[in-house]
Amino acid sequence: MSEMHTKSADPRILIVGNAGQLGRELEKIFAGVGPIVAVDRESVDLADPAQTRELVRRTAPDMILNAAAYTAVDRAESERDLAYAINEGAPRVLAEEAHRRNALFVHYSTDYVFNGEKSSPWIETDAPNPLNVYGASKLAGEQAVEGVGGKFLIFRTSWVYGPHGNNFLLTMLRLARERDRLSIVDDQTGGPTTSIELARATHSIVTGILAGRFGAPADWAGLYHTTCGGSVSWFGFAQAIFARAAELLDIKPPALSPIATKDYPTPAARPRYSVLSNAKLQARFGFELSPWESALEETLEILRNAE
Ligand SMILES: NC(=O)c1ccc[n+]([C@@H]2O[C@H](COP(=O)([O-])OP(=O)(O)OC[C@H]3O[C@@H](n4cnc5c(N)ncnc54)[C@H](OP(=O)(O)O)[C@@H]3O)[C@@H](O)[C@H]2O)c1
Repeated sequence: MSEMHTKSADPRILIVGNAGQLGRELEKIFAGVGPIVAVDRESVDLADPAQTRELVRRTAPDMILNAAAYTAVDRAESERDLAYAINEGAPRVLAEEAHRRNALFVHYSTDYVFNGEKSSPWIETDAPNPLNVYGASKLAGEQAVEGVGGKFLIFRTSWVYGPHGNNFLLTMLRLARERDRLSIVDDQTGGPTTSIELARATHSIVTGILAGRFGAPADWAGLYHTTCGGSVSWFGFAQAIFARAAELLDIKPPALSPIATKDYPTPAARPRYSVLSNAKLQARFGFELSPWESALEETLEILRNAE
């Protein structure tokens, strides 16, 4: 657990899951907004509702940012109960405890709540129909938070990656050092989104709410699609990664071959098209995340500077 203090009138912020991709960026960007208590798995097991509840009562926050989740999409097929405990049970308890204290609760969900059977960007009122256990558990989490109500925001995002953690970009860069040739799925299209841009969006919107810029909770509470701009297939994303990484980082790009999902079987099925429209977010909060290409560039530059 880490703690950081600012002025006593500032909102007390509890960040859950600060060792994850998004949690790390939230902890950085919210420094200065208020005193932060940031916890990871060592301080709380979110699969245990009593521990989760006790954490909120002990820290008495004005705001909870929940960056923790069970994110192992394929493993979730065989760990259904654990996925639901973390992705549905924990957000329900956090939302209930936030509501009890009249605190703001910020939660994140996934494009995998959709079945992919659309060819234009999904909007918030489209019917979810998850293809896998992870998506179903995240959908149950959304519904639990909405059921509690109060001052909550759910940001549905997609294909999250960044300079740290377990993600497609870092996997590609590692594989480039091990192999000359890679086959990448070309028939799944989505919106790669950086942990950095997602944290920026959260910070801008939450500080706007604190400053009273968006009106009363009834005006802003709800679910918003929150992704970097544009769309691409995993294959196209890998091409873009290697085109820029060849210039910015010390790697030799492997030869890439596009393949179909059916040629790369995984335990969990994934949506064919899961691009999310951010029109509601932009209309309500006036915030637009960067296009995925410039967010990728920023991330590769961070990796170059860290080399
Ligand atoms: N990654 C993606 O592609 C993606 C796509 C769409 C939406 N999202 C959503 O975006 C949010 C942030 O994702 P992310 O990529 O930043 O996730 P991440 O890097 O996997 O981080 C999740 C964090 O939650 C922690 N956690 C898991 N189980 C826990 C438990 N029982 N008790 C305490 N902590 C636990 C993990 O700890 P350990 O590492 O120790 O397990 C990890 O630090 C999540 O809501 C996720 O569902 C992610």
